[in-house]
Amino acid sequence: MRKKTIYDLYQMKERGEKAAWITAYDAPTAAYAEAAGMDMLLVGDSLGMCVCGLSGTVPVTMEQCLHHTRAVRTGAPNTFVIGDMPFLSYQVSVEEAVLNAGRFLKEAGADAIKLEGGKRVVRQIRAIADAGIVVFGHIGLTPQSSGQLGGFKAQGRTVEAARLVIEDALAVQEAGAHALLVEAVSPEVTAIIHRRLRIPVYGIGAGPHTDGQLLIVSDLLGVFEAFTPRFVKKYANLGEEMKRAFIAYRDEVKSGVFPGPEHVYPMLEGEVERLGALEQELDSQG
Ligand code: KIV
Repeated sequence: MRKKTIYDLYQMKERGEKAAWITAYDAPTAAYAEAAGMDMLLVGDSLGMCVCGLSGTVPVTMEQCLHHTRAVRTGAPNTFVIGDMPFLSYQVSVEEAVLNAGRFLKEAGADAIKLEGGKRVVRQIRAIADAGIVVFGHIGLTPQSSGQLGGFKAQGRTVEAARLVIEDALAVQEAGAHALLVEAVSPEVTAIIHRRLRIPVYGIGAGPHTDGQLLIVSDLLGVFEAFTPRFVKKYANLGEEMKRAFIAYRDEVKSGVFPGPEHVYPMLEGEVERLGALEQELDSQG
């Protein structure tokens, strides 16, 4: 399978073909996703919650994001990979934003970067795009600013709030972003954004009127139990499956069922007898 480029994503939009993408944080998961034909992989700063057990994304660092992006790139060499810019890697200055965005490409092999915010990050979007980097905007519920939003809350549910979300979408496109992700926004509002933007508009919890859907891999697989947003559909319950396997293993170790003869490396022919002699020799030495 040839790796997609941003132009393939544009063509998919033109054809009305939806893009399916998930987050990934490690090489094996990325490899399974690539084998399943996923269009894109986002190495989200949600790794803070899904991998590191934090309660939010704010503490996540550039080094953590680069580390996991490298792993995903290794596991899925032929899939479009988006690195997620963590909190304070782009807000402080435009220069830092460009340098950090570039690190995702240079050091981790990402194909694009994503950053949160609308009107307030247009200077950063413009500068990163001007540096030749594919930029995904991210508006609506932006977890890095959940403090200001009063928590992980859906956005755009009144006409006044909807106007702000739509203004953000237009600003992101105007600044030169190549695609937009809309999170936890009412479907009617997403539909307006989708009608008005030229660039692909993807959604997570933003309804069906988009050019594709993103889900957090840990939600989709049922391995994140801290909370489950309304928009999540669980396609598996691997958490329960893991628990079942761990209990079975623990019980077999304690009862001596594991390891069985099929799990050991037998000595080569004739060596067991010679081993007996070795033990006698050791005994005689005290
Ligand atoms: O970090 C992430 O996984 C994200 C999604 C919630 C959109 O940004």
